[in-house]
Formats: sequence, C-alpha cells, structure tokens
Amino acid sequence: MSAALADGSIPVLQGSALKDRRGQWRQAFARQRGNQAPSNRKLIVEIGCHLGLTLNQMAENHHDADFIGMDITFKRVVTAAERAVRQGHSNVATILGNARAMDAIFADGEVDGFIIFFPDPWLKRAQSKNRLVDQKFAALLATKLSPGGFVWMKTDQEIYFNEASEAFVGAGFKPTEPVDFFAGRIYESTFERRFRLQGLPPHGGQWQKPLNGRMC
Ligand SMILES: C[S@@+](CC[C@H](N)C(=O)[O-])C[C@H]1O[C@@H](n2cnc3c(N)ncnc32)[C@H](O)[C@@H]1O
Repeated sequence: MSAALADGSIPVLQGSALKDRRGQWRQAFARQRGNQAPSNRKLIVEIGCHLGLTLNQMAENHHDADFIGMDITFKRVVTAAERAVRQGHSNVATILGNARAMDAIFADGEVDGFIIFFPDPWLKRAQSKNRLVDQKFAALLATKLSPGGFVWMKTDQEIYFNEASEAFVGAGFKPTEPVDFFAGRIYESTFERRFRLQGLPPHGGQWQKPLNGRMC
C-alpha cells in the first residue's frame, strides 16, 4: 500500500504533498484529467469523509465538479481513495488531515462548498469543547469559500445543530433552502443510515456566504 500511496495510484495527499496545492486545486484536477488549462469547475470539500461513500456518490453524480474528501483517520481516507480509484473517478482527491488546519491547504475563496455530515458529536458535557463546528471554525470556512459558496451540515444531535447554526449565522452566513447544485438529492451518509435504523432523525441545514462576499 505504501508504494501505491507514494506513486499516487491511491490518491491520498498528506503533509508535504499538500504544500503546492494551496490555491492550485483546479490546476491539479485539470492535470489529473490530462488538461493543461485550469477550469472554473466547482470545488466541493467533504470534511470527515470517512470511507468515501458520500464523496464518491457526489463525484458520480457531478462529472462537472471536483470533490476533495478530508479525514483525520488514515485507514478511512485510504479506503475513500481506493473507492474513488475502483469507481474510476477522475474528479476526486483525498486528504489525510485535520480540517482545523485547512488554512494551509486551501487559499481564501478557493472552495465552493463544504459538506460536514455527522461530525463527531462529543456527547459528554466536558467534551463539547472538542466539537469541530464552532464560531472559529465557521469563520474559517467563510474565509475559504467563494462568494455564494455553501456549507451543508447534518448531525444526529439537535443541540449540536442549534449551536452550529448559531455559529454559522454569527460568522455571517445566511441559512438557505437546499442549494440547486445537489438537485434535491439527500445523500444519506453511513452514519445517517445507522441513526435512521435506530429511529434517530437527522438535523441538517445549509448556509450560504453572501454573494457580495461580505460576512457582516
Ligand atoms: C461520525 S464520523 C461521520 C462520517 C461520515 N461523514 C458520515 O456521515 O457517515 C466523523 C468523521 O470525521 C472524521 N474527523 C473527525 N475530526 C476530524 C477533523 N478535525 N478533520 C477531519 N476529519 C475529522 C472522523 O475520522 C470520522 O471519519
């Protein structure tokens, strides 16, 4: 497996392999498809992509956009990348990394959409400070998004949803109807399915960065 990671046949990027990508993701995807010129295709990033189920479903449905899956767990992100290779997607890349460190990975305004499905809930009161989505993280996402860019979050925890919603609005996002890009598809993730089978409904929403780019 390490040879496949090193020669790029399993496309997981990490550490120094990411250093030239900031601000260059569109060019890198264009090269991956054998084109010289970068395109203006949408760039969508899934945070906590797990084994790549949703990431690859989205890539399959949107040949006109590029998708980057990020996860902090090595085995999961490798599985996500292997799935992309098996399914023949030239519009998927994966990153082993912490979403909190994305300032080093994406230039400001480079991303068109963030997907955050079922981030770790950190249920105990003393652990809630570990939750990924808070005001600081919402502000970071806002910086990385293009004007009109969106965040789509789902969680099983109503309290997390409400707090995240406040954080997005506090950072200047506007709650929005489901964005046209997904054409009404709901993309039931692995964890969403697990919770549904236990009778637990998802709490989800989408937020948009204003088209004029101003967050307040
Ligand atoms: C509860 S799972 C949900 C997986 C998937 N999104 C779903 O809905 O089925 C949360 C995922 O987020 C990843 N994760 C946790 N913290 C992260 C971080 N700071 N940056 C990137 N990924 C993270 C975990 O490794 C895990 O795969």
